[in-house]
Amino acid sequence: MNQEKLIIFDTTLRDGEQSLSSSLSVQQKVRIARQLERLKVDVIEAGFPISSPGDFESVSTIAREIQRPVICGLARLVEKDIIACGKAVKPAKRPRIHLFVGTSAIHMEKKLKKSEDDILSMVKQSIRLARRYVDDVEFSPEDAGRTGLDFLCRVVEHAIRCGAKTINIPDTVGYTTPEQFGAIFDDLFARVPNIGEAVISVHCHNDLGMATANSITAVSHGARQIECAVNGLGERAGNTALEEVVMGIKVRHDLFRHLRMAIDTREIMHTSRLVREICNMPVQANKAIVGANAFAHSSGIHQDGVLKARQTYEIMTPESVGLRENRMNLTSRSGSHMVKSRLAALGYNGPEVDIAEFYGRFIALADKKGSVYDDDLVALMEAKNAGDLADRFTLEYLNVSSGLGTVATATARMAHDGKTEQEAATGDGAVDAATKAIDRIAGFKITIEHYHLESVTEGREAQGKVTMVGRAAEGVFVGTGTSTDIVEASALAYMDIVNKIARMKKFRRKLPQQKSSMADEL
Ligand code: KIV
Ligand code: ZN
Repeated sequence: MNQEKLIIFDTTLRDGEQSLSSSLSVQQKVRIARQLERLKVDVIEAGFPISSPGDFESVSTIAREIQRPVICGLARLVEKDIIACGKAVKPAKRPRIHLFVGTSAIHMEKKLKKSEDDILSMVKQSIRLARRYVDDVEFSPEDAGRTGLDFLCRVVEHAIRCGAKTINIPDTVGYTTPEQFGAIFDDLFARVPNIGEAVISVHCHNDLGMATANSITAVSHGARQIECAVNGLGERAGNTALEEVVMGIKVRHDLFRHLRMAIDTREIMHTSRLVREICNMPVQANKAIVGANAFAHSSGIHQDGVLKARQTYEIMTPESVGLRENRMNLTSRSGSHMVKSRLAALGYNGPEVDIAEFYGRFIALADKKGSVYDDDLVALMEAKNAGDLADRFTLEYLNVSSGLGTVATATARMAHDGKTEQEAATGDGAVDAATKAIDRIAGFKITIEHYHLESVTEGREAQGKVTMVGRAAEGVFVGTGTSTDIVEASALAYMDIVNKIARMKKFRRKLPQQKSSMADEL
């Protein structure tokens, strides 16, 4: 079959960055752009050069350093914007200028105070000026979703005649419904005589949670470029999430056989994590494709089904988006089948494993702890009786003082082996000082490889849950701690690790190497 190209236009660094509370540095933007190149997006919208000297520099640095994708900059229909944008994208192998102007009645009357004819003449002058800098000009009638259809058709036809190669149809305020949006594309294809001379693009916002549906509908109705952002970043509720539209088209290949994309989907997870870290924007756990739970099967029935045949509850593999394995969340709802399979993966698959007996102890632990990790399973397996699982160290007292201009100091008192010990330590912050004081008593050497804090409940008195991954000579351990005080939650998570190491030492058995992968999964 003759497949048509579906262009993936990434606007993480422009629309996405606009939504952040603090702007990204040039180096941070270049790091994201490099990863977008690895992901094989077709177009990177690198910024809005006139908006600040930093943005100008980011766009021009990316234009110089990133080779394969088209590098695009945004400009209003204003001479100084277009000149700055033309200069910023100039070093790129394939530069693009993206022009936009409001075309809905509310934008023209209230924001721009321009008539339809004013807009048409601005479009002509601006496209001509942009074409002096680049061949590749994109034009967006901003708020197209709320623009009268007659004027939308007129302005699109006009922009193509003036030399725009791509016409983007933005649902700027995320107002349209998929059916309505599809009809706008049908009308454009039916009524604009020169529409075949340009690529038609879609740009949706997620104010009503319909950005992905609207973008995919637009593709079904003839759009051949999707504008989107990693993790759905963007103004207000965000832009269409890149990972969602790409996997939507890929997974439903049965509906989109006529299209091909260049994206290497195995880079999606890595790109998402990088953007999350650099932009300091968390991703909700149940976010499609890239959320922590997107491939985690929790209920016993689901886990059992996945073990028998993955397709029972998986429409795509975790590997297809770059996740090495699907993480089964072991809880008290996990069936014995699932627990048996996890034990086998950890090397406990011989005749000595009495799964019926083990499962009872597993449920008791899961009821107590909530989540059960691999290292908990190992400890439980190795424990000959309940006493073996008792904590060797108990944190009885913790006092931490820290603040601006002071050295953080912590005093910890712990009970262990029938005695009580107290130690103090200073550190680089309250958590560091507290863990150092604990180390002095426990005497273990632990390197924290991962630290994650999440709020369990809402409001000022919210409970903070800390998850830490610590590496010691005995292996890699996951510790969790919950408290309304986040330093205390951190100390409790650290104590969880300390007690796991103590238990492991007692069992004199090294954890299987495989568990180091858990640190990456968290
Ligand atoms: O949402 C929007 O309309 C935009 C334009 C600049 C394309 O971001
Ligand atoms: Zn936008």
